[in-house]
Amino acid sequence: MKGIILAGGTGSRLHPATFPISKQLLPVYDKPMIYYPLSVLMLAEVREILLISTPRDLPLFERLLGDGSNLGLRISYARQDGPHGLAEAFTIGAEHIGDDDVALILGDNIFHGHGFANLLQENVAGLDGCVLFGYTVPDPDRYGVGETDETGRLISIEEKPEKPRSNRAITGLYFYDRDVVEIARSVKPSARGELEITAVNQVYLQRGKARLVDLGRGFAWLDTGTPDSLLQASHYLQTMEQRQGVRIACLEEIALRMGFIDHESCYRLGLTQGSSPYGQYVMNVAAEYRADLLATGA
Ligand code: DAU
Repeated sequence: MKGIILAGGTGSRLHPATFPISKQLLPVYDKPMIYYPLSVLMLAEVREILLISTPRDLPLFERLLGDGSNLGLRISYARQDGPHGLAEAFTIGAEHIGDDDVALILGDNIFHGHGFANLLQENVAGLDGCVLFGYTVPDPDRYGVGETDETGRLISIEEKPEKPRSNRAITGLYFYDRDVVEIARSVKPSARGELEITAVNQVYLQRGKARLVDLGRGFAWLDTGTPDSLLQASHYLQTMEQRQGVRIACLEEIALRMGFIDHESCYRLGLTQGSSPYGQYVMNVAAEYRADLLATGA
């Protein structure tokens, strides 16, 4: 499966903070926002990733993440010239997707929850059509909304409906088979001239090939759209990280534990940022991993 992170848009709800820099590069507690969606793709074992952003911001993402090889990834970059809709990711990324399945994640979506890696990997393995991830919210009219019947089967999807048929928001993480490129090319732009992801999802639904997987109550899906929600997301992550003594979306640790890099490479990555608590953490993770290997004789 290939991966795409869509990290464009204007970030206008966060002006003036986003006048000089992409929203998805703003820090959320101790790391840039983009680390969180990238970590989700890594946990799903997706290693070939296309990052799409504005011509203005692409050089900054490249400076941060490079070609991804230090994390055992292959990251490439493509531009979106304007906010023409989420589904434009598939026409821009057509060559990258090729004949493969693809996971799309929005660069401002933050997920956290126990068992997430297993859930992702199961759904990658069993993919037939598209998989959407649902999350119960008090204000579904702000999102794509999915309605299911009593057996849990998805029966309707609407974009920001005035009268939502359920309180199940469709999050910004989507798995698709290779048909997605042809479907994205065939959907009509919305009244605002955007290629909407919901229109693509509706085609899968009509074909009987859309599935909604519920993220249960134990999951956090955090909003980063406004100054208040951004700060709340930082507080949530700070609380979880400090209480548990582990870091969420630490890319070097995930690359190590997923077997994308070895402990020596991981340690070196920590050392290059060793004057920050994040870098110290990466070095500790690598050292502990090495000690465990020695102890078990592996
Ligand atoms: O976050 C989940 C929601 O994302 C879904 O429930 C909705 O169905 C989906 O339409 C989308 O809704 P938003 O209102 O969040 O969409 P927005 O236009 O704000 O775009 C989401 C992110 O994607 C945002 O960070 C900007 C970026 N973006 C947006 C567009 C339209 C792009 O990179 N390119 C674009 O063309």
